[in-house]
Amino acid sequence: MTSQCYAGRSRPRQRSADGAAAKSGLGAGIGSWMVVLGIETTCDETAAAVVERPGEGRGRILSNIVLSQIDEHAAFGGVVPEIAARAHVEALDVIIAKAMAEAGRTFAHLDGVAAAAGPGLIGGVLVGLTTAKAIALVSEKPLIAVNHLEAHALTVRLTDATPFPYCLFLASGGHTQIVAVLGVGDYVRLGTTVDDAIGEAFDKIAKLLGLAYPGGPQVEREALSGDGARFALPRPMLGRQHADFSLSGLKTALRLEAEKIAPLSEGDVRDLCASFQQSVVEVVADRLRAGLKMFRERYGKPNALVAAGGVAANQAIRKVLHQVAFETGTVLVVPPAALCTDNGAMIAWAGAERLALGLTDTLDAAAHARWSLHDVAGPAPPTNADAPAIDAGGVTESRVADD
Ligand code: KG4
Ligand code: ZN
Repeated sequence: MTSQCYAGRSRPRQRSADGAAAKSGLGAGIGSWMVVLGIETTCDETAAAVVERPGEGRGRILSNIVLSQIDEHAAFGGVVPEIAARAHVEALDVIIAKAMAEAGRTFAHLDGVAAAAGPGLIGGVLVGLTTAKAIALVSEKPLIAVNHLEAHALTVRLTDATPFPYCLFLASGGHTQIVAVLGVGDYVRLGTTVDDAIGEAFDKIAKLLGLAYPGGPQVEREALSGDGARFALPRPMLGRQHADFSLSGLKTALRLEAEKIAPLSEGDVRDLCASFQQSVVEVVADRLRAGLKMFRERYGKPNALVAAGGVAANQAIRKVLHQVAFETGTVLVVPPAALCTDNGAMIAWAGAERLALGLTDTLDAAAHARWSLHDVAGPAPPTNADAPAIDAGGVTESRVADD
């Protein structure tokens, strides 16, 4: 997988009834105040939230309920899709009822119902999306089928009203991407991982070293008192001009070092974790420098460097984000940890941003196991030939050829 960009007028895609987005006319209208319910079930969190979007500026979270399934998956050392889907079915109604009650709203008060329609574990995605469709149908509200990655990308507008364009570093258990966020539905991937996501690599090495799931926080804790210079691990992709990542060679190198010195003492585990984290930190700094350079060359100075995803909770990684932002004269915005990891508020907010542009979906909207940001529909292009190249949604002039 490499990211190649091509120039040319963007192709905002208004999805049709077979796949989704359609202008239903039910949208509350550009710039208007609205309240949206958001449902998130793509992985191992069952989440629902109600968010208020003013005409402009940051949003207000009226409720944000997240039920983690970690305990149900811990024994297996990772998320088991069938267990996740069943757990979503069992919990979702209660979580939604709690979110509505805490927000002091009924379905009748809503302007729209948003659900993550992918990418993710398909059983779970279906649970959330089908529930959202039922609520939308019964309460006669517009449905917004949200791309989970788009929701991570737009969270910073909920928390900080960050204006477009900005550069997003998204690092979670399933994704590692550097993305130019140019407008709602207008995303250009500048870099991605060619193999494992960063969080996935943390989880895998934790499992290898006998640490609990999810591995990221455990590895970080062990690394705190370890010697990061003890093992000479590789720094994959360091110095490359593109902004892609690769983690699997690093993971293999760590396994080989561990095998050489097995059985491992507690000190060995701490030093292996510290050496691994040190390598990841250096790679992240280097890849972000490359990504920000690409951003500037194409779109000028970003309004911010934004971090999202569970990995952004790592203090060593946060430190290096500050360092790179400082070096490059970029403002760093990291939403609170609870909004960096999966939650319903980010889905509700992305739904509200789309609803404000009239981007709603029909009740046959599909659930997607895979769904690239490249394929997320944006606002329709201006119809007047004299209209400027940039419209209200920030549709600009280049896109990534994703795969
Ligand atoms: O965004 P997230 O909550 O869920 C998705 O994957 O979408 O991210 C979870 C990932 C896991 O792989 C977890 O190990 C990693 O983020 N993570 C961390 C830390 N906290 C969570 N990785 C490194 N250091 C951490 N402190
Ligand atoms: Zn996520």
